[in-house]
Parts: sequence; structure tokens; C-alpha cells
Amino acid sequence: MSTAPTPHLVGADPQVPRRAVVTGAAGFIGSHLTLALLQAGATVIGVDRRDADSDPAAATNLTLLRDHPAFIPITAELLTCAIEPLLLDADAVFHLAAIPGVRPSWGPRFSDYVTCNILATQRIMDAATRLRVPRLVVASSSSVYGATNGTPSNEIDHPHPASPYAVTKLAQEQLCLAHAARPDCPTTVTALRYFTVYGPRQREDMFLHRLLTAALDDTPIQIFGDGRQRRDFTYITDVVTATIAAATAPTINTVINVGTGTSTSIADTIQLARRLTGARIPTTDTTTRNGDVAATCADTTRARHLLAWTPHVDLATGMAEQFDWITSHQPATV
Ligand code: NAD
Ligand code: UGA
Repeated sequence: MSTAPTPHLVGADPQVPRRAVVTGAAGFIGSHLTLALLQAGATVIGVDRRDADSDPAAATNLTLLRDHPAFIPITAELLTCAIEPLLLDADAVFHLAAIPGVRPSWGPRFSDYVTCNILATQRIMDAATRLRVPRLVVASSSSVYGATNGTPSNEIDHPHPASPYAVTKLAQEQLCLAHAARPDCPTTVTALRYFTVYGPRQREDMFLHRLLTAALDDTPIQIFGDGRQRRDFTYITDVVTATIAAATAPTINTVINVGTGTSTSIADTIQLARRLTGARIPTTDTTTRNGDVAATCADTTRARHLLAWTPHVDLATGMAEQFDWITSHQPATV
């Protein structure tokens, strides 16, 4: 059996890897994670197939990163690029690149979900183990649990993914863990099951972005179903803190929920947005979308024990931050 290498840590903050690779760095969560790593003193190789010069969302996400001297942006397609040069000398890989989104995964983009979420992950794990990268943190999803009985989901619960997306996320995390379980594998893996992440720069297809944009623009928001579905909304800075902790905590080869342990219905979230913004926010009702589960809520015991992590930002505070951001990034009207 080989001995797992130990990550080098930055001098200033002993909880931060010295040299990190972030895949999906031009995305919502990846760009926040990258900035936090840079601010803590790490060098970050940020890999994404989206290019700030041609993709406006990527440009917005990368605004605060692009000129940082310790940021090395690489525009690359993980399915075809040479992975090993990207991972050379890395102390940790944060593998966030994926095709996200539950509802579109039923459609013609399914092959993208399979290739990006599973095949690209196989390439990353192969390279990480060959280069003896000590730690890989992979972004998994609360969606792997599927329908629940209403109690918080625990990592030992049997997963019942209810959408093609969720199936690919379960495959992604289990693929990483299968590599890591080989006796000769030098890379330890922590799979983080994120619960509906929100905050500034949230993806435009997600509910809170649409809701707060509707408040600003005085346009209606579409509700999929009766609005009684509940989500464990988790604020981006809390997610980033948990993700960085997962790179250095003495935790090996496991899955960990990253959620708050509370959940809020879509109807209550709309009321909260009305109070917060003073807007009417009219709603239109449409049918429940396939693959949408009735409720998500994280059991956070494992995150507390293994990562010494607790979330700090409540929904009202986080939504206010996100609304401020949307307001200040409103395109100027002529
Ligand atoms: P995002 O779409 O904003 O970011 C993902 C990034 O990955 C994109 O910039 C995309 O270009 C990149 N990417 C995808 N496939 C690639 C490939 N083949 N090669 C290179 N780059 C590629 O999504 P996000 O919301 O930031 O999600 C990040 C991760 O967290 C994903 O793995 C997602 O499944 C997971 N997750 C997100 C949430 C959430 O609420 N946002 C919840 C659970 C899990
Ligand atoms: C989110 C992310 O999009 C996934 O990438 C992630 O894997 C998942 O969280 C997770 O927790 O694992 P979802 O919970 O569907 O998925 O997040 P939203 O898109 O914000 O939707 C939340 C709820 O609002 C859903 O019930 C959805 O049907 C509803 N919704 C969404 C609407 O009623 N109207 C909309 O316009 C959008």
C-alpha cells in the first residue's frame, strides 16, 4: 500500500493549499472559490472551457480574478485537453466543472451531462492519481438523494436520484471515490453534496436569481408546481468555506453534505423577497417539472464533525446580499 502524500499549505493560512487547481473556475461557485483561495494566499490554476472574452457570464464571474497575480486562467475543454500539465505540483484539485441544472437534463443536452460530468471526471481522476495529487474535492449535489420522507438527508441514506442530472452527479462522486478506494491510490477524495447554492453571480436559470430579477424588473416569476416545494438554500460564502476546509481536513474518501439543515418553501421565499424588495412580484403557475423533488434539507452532523464547519448566513441576509448585487449590476438603461 502506498502512503498518501501530504498537501503543502500556504504559510499565512495553514488551512489553505499552497497550489490549487479549480475546474469550473469561470462558473458561479468556482469563481467565488477561486477568489477566496487567492485571498488566502494560494496560487490557483483556474480551468474552464468558457472564455471571458466571448462569454458574458464568464466575464462577469472572472472580473475580480483576472488581474490577480497568483491566478493562472486556462481556457480548456476537459474532455480533450492535456490534463496532466494542469495538475503538475498541485496540492489540491477542486473539481467543480460540470453541466448543472436538474430540469434541462431530460432534454437533448443529456449527452453533455454524461460527457462533462462523468467522462471528464474520469480524466481528472486518472491524471490526479498519476501525478499523486494529495487531495481532490469534487462538487456533488443534494439531488442525489431524490425524494425524501421529509427528514434531513443523511450521507448514509440510500440515494434515489430522480433526474438524469442527479444520476450523473451520483456517478461522478462515486467514480472519484472508486478511484480513491484503490489500495495504491495516492489521492484522497472528499465529495461535497451542495444544497441549492445562492448569492451574488448565481446562475441565471436558478430560482432566486429569477425571483430577485423579477422584483427589480417588475415582471412575473413562473412557479413550477404549487410553490410548496422546499429547498435548503445555502449561501455561497458558507459553501466556499466548507469547500476549502475539505481540501485540508484530515477527512478521507467520503461524502459530506453542505447545507444549512433548514428548508424554506418557494411560496415563503417569494413572501420574503416581497418584504425585502418592496416589489409586488406577480406569479404565474405552471406544472411541476420532471425531476424536481418536493423537499431538500441537509443533515449537517458530518460536516460539523469532519470539517468543523457550520453555516453562518441565513436566507434573509443572503437574499439581501444577492439583491444588492443584482441591483448594482443592472445593465445601464440608455
Ligand atoms: P456553473 O455552470 O456556473 O459552473 C460550472 C462551470 O463548469 C462552467 O463555467 C462551465 O463552463 C464549466 N465546465 C463544464 N463542463 C466543462 C468541461 N467539459 N470543460 C471545461 N469546463 C467545463 O455551475 P455552478 O452552479 O457554479 O456549479 C458548480 C458545481 O457545483 C457543479 O458541479 C454543480 O453540479 C455543483 N452543484 C451546484 C449547485 C448549485 O446550487 N449551484 C448545487 C449542487 C451542486
Ligand atoms: C439546484 C441547482 O440548479 C443544481 O445544479 C443543484 O445540483 C441542486 O440545486 C442541488 O441542490 O443539488 P434546484 O434545487 O432545482 O437545483 O434549484 P433552483 O433552480 O433554484 O430551483 C429551486 C426550486 O424553484 C425548484 O423546485 C424549481 O422547480 C423552482 N423554480 C425554479 C421555479 O418555480 N421557477 C423557476 O423559474 C425556477
